[in-house]
Amino acid sequence: MAFKKVWCAVALGFLLPFSCAHTDFFTSIGHMTDLINTEKDLVVSLKDYIKAEESKLEQIKKWAEKLDQLTATATKDPEGFLGHPVNAFKLMKRLNTEWGELESLVLKDMSDGFISNMTIQRQFFPNDEDQTGAAKALLRLQDTYNLDTDTLSRGNLPGVKHKSFLTAEDCFELGKIAYTEADYYHTELWMEQALKQLDEGEVSSADKVYILDYLSYAVYQQGDLAKAMALTRRLLELDPEHQRANGNMKYFEYIMAKEKEANKSSTDSEEQEKETEVKKKDYLPERRKYEMLCRGEGLKMTPRRQKRLFCRYYDGNRNPRYILGPVKQEDEWDKPRIVRFLDIISDEEIETVKELAKPRLSRATVHDPETGKLTTAHYRVSKSAWLSGYESPVVSRINTRIQDLTGLDVSTAEELQVANYGVGGQYEPHFDFGRKDEPDAFKELGTGNRIATWLFYMSDVSAGGATVFPEVGASVWPRKGTAVFWYNLFPSGEGDYSTRHAACPVLVGNKWVSNKWLHERGQEFRRPCTLSELE
Ligand code: OGA
Ligand code: FE2
Repeated sequence: MAFKKVWCAVALGFLLPFSCAHTDFFTSIGHMTDLINTEKDLVVSLKDYIKAEESKLEQIKKWAEKLDQLTATATKDPEGFLGHPVNAFKLMKRLNTEWGELESLVLKDMSDGFISNMTIQRQFFPNDEDQTGAAKALLRLQDTYNLDTDTLSRGNLPGVKHKSFLTAEDCFELGKIAYTEADYYHTELWMEQALKQLDEGEVSSADKVYILDYLSYAVYQQGDLAKAMALTRRLLELDPEHQRANGNMKYFEYIMAKEKEANKSSTDSEEQEKETEVKKKDYLPERRKYEMLCRGEGLKMTPRRQKRLFCRYYDGNRNPRYILGPVKQEDEWDKPRIVRFLDIISDEEIETVKELAKPRLSRATVHDPETGKLTTAHYRVSKSAWLSGYESPVVSRINTRIQDLTGLDVSTAEELQVANYGVGGQYEPHFDFGRKDEPDAFKELGTGNRIATWLFYMSDVSAGGATVFPEVGASVWPRKGTAVFWYNLFPSGEGDYSTRHAACPVLVGNKWVSNKWLHERGQEFRRPCTLSELE
């Protein structure tokens, strides 16, 4: 589209530290910046401790040198030395008080300051769950973006500013986390990477025997018996007495023999297997489609359809606020119709919205269809906060803008939701509207279903983070200062299933969005219903 090149100014994302209670650090980059500052403070404190310890040692050294000289002279001629009354006095003084003072100095604990800082800060540290969450985020990114293990371990990602790599021990750790999740596919990848890095000579405390133990098990679990045996053999070369490996070896040999026996009489089942494989290829599950769209590998729209997408200046149907200064609008998709507004929220407004939201960000929740209650879920990983128009003229102005440009009444809309996705943050395919089988979803609001969604992109994302529509194959890329809008319901009030969409995991950088869910009430004359149900 013509507008894109001219108008798409790329601004850099930026982050500001802020404080928060301890919950799910890995879900939002905002909260993790706090930890960076905590670490910085701790290093300062650690350095102070080192200085204090060094100065203590320096004092002790000086004393030892002084006494060394003194005793050397004194022992040569003890009587002559003590014949001097000052020496006699000083000997008494040294032994009676000075050695005692030295003893106190030696015993003095210089670590108090550092330890108490540690104790205070530790309560804000991430816990095991955070560490596992961050590891799982890495594995998720690896799948979604088809990243090869070596590339990820060497930190060769697109758009990164600070290169960082994984040690063999880190790879081992990731493999172990995958293992505890019974995710043998990733266990194999990461144990193999750990092994590879060790084989290449990386100095590490990671132990090849342990790695091979996990690796062979993961390979066995995935059905590659021959490889599992080869790995176990390699383990036994390093540690011939390894009990489990010796036991496994015998077991592998036993099943191998049994399989050979069975294979002699089974050509039929092989054919069947082939057939199911063909089926698998034809049928693209949503997950695969979602991941392809996230990678930008979506099926292209036909040129004929594409030609019908336009860009234009839009005045909100002759809205007085936009007649003189219409806004730039682009068609992103035709069915469902998704439009993007450009330069629709300023950098200052974005800053204000982020600042208002930051202290309130908490792990985003979803409706549990069984209980109708709000809960956290692995498929929605982000932090969010709600802002009311009453609390800031900026928020109120934004709400009015949405009303002017959509022609819909915002008084029945939900408050402005601000969301921040950290690395790995995502929202898997979902509908924004409530389905027929969950009539209670928005009941307490009393404003009907979510008729439409307005989504502001408040940051650019270095890599990943697209909004994708797997039913129709659309990928919408975040561009700071723009917003997209679509209807979730047909004018009849029926849900439009083609609006199923997702927020792809952020690969590099971080993503800020804010959205407004407009409801049915109040739109009766603004968007009258039609006789046809599904149009
Ligand atoms: C949502 C949503 C998309 C995105 O919050 O409901 O679909 O790109 N967000 O953040
Ligand atoms: Fe959504």
